[in-house]
Amino acid sequence: MRRSIAKRSSLQMSVLSIFGVVLIAFFGYHCVWMWQEVRHQEALERAAVAIEQVLTRNSELLPTEMWRRVDELLVSIGNVRAKVYGVEGQVLYGPQVLLSQVKHKETLFFPLENLGGAMPIQRLELAMDISEDRKFLNFIGAMFAVAALVWGVLVMLLSGTLARFELKPLNKFGRKISELDPSDLSLRIKGDGEPEELYPVIEQFNRLMCKVEQHQEQLRSFNSNVAHELNTPLSSLTVSHELLLREKYPNPDHLKEALHSHLEELQRMNRIIQSMLFLSHASQGQYKDFRLIDKLSQPVMVVMDYMEAMLEEKGLHFELRGDASARVDTELIKRALSNLVSNAIRYANPKSTIQIKIDHEQANHLVRFTVSNEGECIPENSVPHLFEPFYRVDKSRSESGQNHGLGLAIVAAIARLHGGEPFAQCDGQWVRIGFTVRRV
Ligand SMILES: Nc1ncnc2c1ncn2[C@@H]1O[C@H](COP(=O)(O)OP(=O)(O)OP(=O)(O)O)[C@@H](O)[C@H]1O
Ligand SMILES: [Mg+2]
Repeated sequence: MRRSIAKRSSLQMSVLSIFGVVLIAFFGYHCVWMWQEVRHQEALERAAVAIEQVLTRNSELLPTEMWRRVDELLVSIGNVRAKVYGVEGQVLYGPQVLLSQVKHKETLFFPLENLGGAMPIQRLELAMDISEDRKFLNFIGAMFAVAALVWGVLVMLLSGTLARFELKPLNKFGRKISELDPSDLSLRIKGDGEPEELYPVIEQFNRLMCKVEQHQEQLRSFNSNVAHELNTPLSSLTVSHELLLREKYPNPDHLKEALHSHLEELQRMNRIIQSMLFLSHASQGQYKDFRLIDKLSQPVMVVMDYMEAMLEEKGLHFELRGDASARVDTELIKRALSNLVSNAIRYANPKSTIQIKIDHEQANHLVRFTVSNEGECIPENSVPHLFEPFYRVDKSRSESGQNHGLGLAIVAAIARLHGGEPFAQCDGQWVRIGFTVRRV
């Protein structure tokens, strides 16, 4: 069953307000009860003092005359009854039980000394009929209970209506979302005039839509890039096959040459597919062979040994600075470094130096690998796209037949697998491209 915020909040409000009214009612009831108690005690004390005065003034009279005057006094007071005890506890005046028929009564014992002359008196017991006051108190209690109940129902109805009114913007927001066309991801929700509480939801929703749109765009361009990159070698293979098939008696040398060229094309396609498979596996986090490497300079040296011939060919020098330790997958780190170094070799000025630096980013617990080469700076507007698959700054310059713009995308995927990020910057004549990895 769906939960309704309006119903729940009105129920909560009425429970809370009933609780509040009951608390106030209880307090009021208690105050009235205390006030009545004080009034009863005062009335009894006044009666006791009056009886004491009658007994003091008439102590020389006969007991019958004295009790008659007490009788007269009690008649004038009204609802108070009295009983007088002698020094041995015997009842000198009044019935055995005061107000025996009355359900609610208030009593008071009052000490009396040096009274009564020949018939010494010790104390006075007074009782007062408080049934009327109790009835009034019960009536007030019942009124409070009814008021609490009526108030609770009223609050429930009112707060339900109010909550429905206050939740209207939320319903409107829900309707706006349901009216969005799922095929048009450029749509955003305007927050103008919406309540403050909805702003974070609207902002978050718009941010999410932005991301979905970006991903959709990336996916679209990725698909068209893949198709484009594979289309070129496939077309040339098809044409070449067709031409060969047209030859009735193909020249064996010509055939061999064609097969070589086909093999190259197939290897090229294989490289693209392998790179794409790697990116797909990396995005699913499938590579997790992380080990603590004390000297990260070691995998760097392995990569540089492998690249030595390419360096020599261009008359380049190599320099390694710094070292660090981190938990990494060595094979992946070697792959990222060889992608960066092969780029650096391709774009470095002849006879210049290629630098690899390993250092700590202490604040973020990261280790940073930077590969720098002297050469032409990458245009600023290209830098944010460098790590996108199939992106090449200048397609003609990057020998697009051999290079597909997947090297840096792989570097970025490897960095993210290690909890880091790729980066690229130009520093004067130096192009610095690299990535970070988390230390542990
Ligand atoms: N050191 C560098 N100096 C100048 N431009 C660079 C450098 N490294 C990369 N680039 C630019 O970034 C682009 C993307 O590089 P990336 O390594 O992803 O692709 P690629 O080298 O063209 O192809 P692949 O690596 O797939 O063989 C390159 O085409 C190039 O334009
Ligand atoms: Mg490359």
